[in-house]
Amino acid sequence: MTNDSPTFTPLMPTIGMEIHGIDLSKPVPDDAIQQINDMLCNNGILLFRDQHITPEQHIAFSQQFGRLEPHVADQFNLPGHPEIFIVSNIVENGRNIGASGGARHWHFDYSYREFPSLGSLFYCLECPAEGGQTQFAGMYAAYDALPEEKKAWLEDKKAVHDYVYYWENFVPHRGPLTAEQKAELQPVAQPIVHIHPETGRRTLYLAHNIATHIEGMEAEESHDIIEDLVAFATRPEFVYTHEWQANDLIFWDNRATMHRVLPFDEEHDRRRMHRTTLVNEGQAAEQSELAEAS
Ligand code: OGA
Ligand code: MN
Repeated sequence: MTNDSPTFTPLMPTIGMEIHGIDLSKPVPDDAIQQINDMLCNNGILLFRDQHITPEQHIAFSQQFGRLEPHVADQFNLPGHPEIFIVSNIVENGRNIGASGGARHWHFDYSYREFPSLGSLFYCLECPAEGGQTQFAGMYAAYDALPEEKKAWLEDKKAVHDYVYYWENFVPHRGPLTAEQKAELQPVAQPIVHIHPETGRRTLYLAHNIATHIEGMEAEESHDIIEDLVAFATRPEFVYTHEWQANDLIFWDNRATMHRVLPFDEEHDRRRMHRTTLVNEGQAAEQSELAEAS
């Protein structure tokens, strides 16, 4: 396989493509990277099956799309490779080898950072026979389906994303965050309507239980609005559910796709995933330029 002519087949009408003809353990030429990036931006997620890659190869492929940013919760980063965040329920030597029991709520990675994530590349090493699927909701289709009055009302609204609130209330079993970690995690306001910097299309940008309220509104009122929007945006027609097989890799676009994990038997089954996370450094500048131009 020379990796120079990838082909694609759709996963769902509104979201997702499976990619064929790419072996991530070998170099991927620039032309193919360009095609993969275009497909990602237009389809939200890309599935690569049957990949046999080392952490170095996972990192090298990811870096062809931008800069990687290690997770703030560095206790779950792969020793020697901080660019890889481990998501796992496995306990070794009395401690969790990765972040467990999180991500059950619909979200975008790093929405709580000043510069959120551009995309994540998630590689399955071990997965249960049942449960533990990841669901992806396509936010182009969700935004387009909103009533026009709702779109107009949302256009200038911002939601405040607060990861410390989420961690302490929804995943306290992961253990406390340190003072340094908390200092890096000040709440940030993000526009609810995002403009995708590469396609120019609008998306909905929210995160369930991380987006605590809408700026300038009462907590309770905004809570209901956020719940309704998340429910609308994750209706079945916008959602692809991925049944993992070991050696699958999914590249999702954190500017166009919301995701969450479904439950599994955490006590008896093993699930171990490696994630690299690209940061969207240019977001602030691009966002304001596009808003002016559109
Ligand atoms: C993540 C995430 C979902 C899953 O790692 O960003 O949300 O299926 N994971 O574990
Ligand atoms: Mn996530």
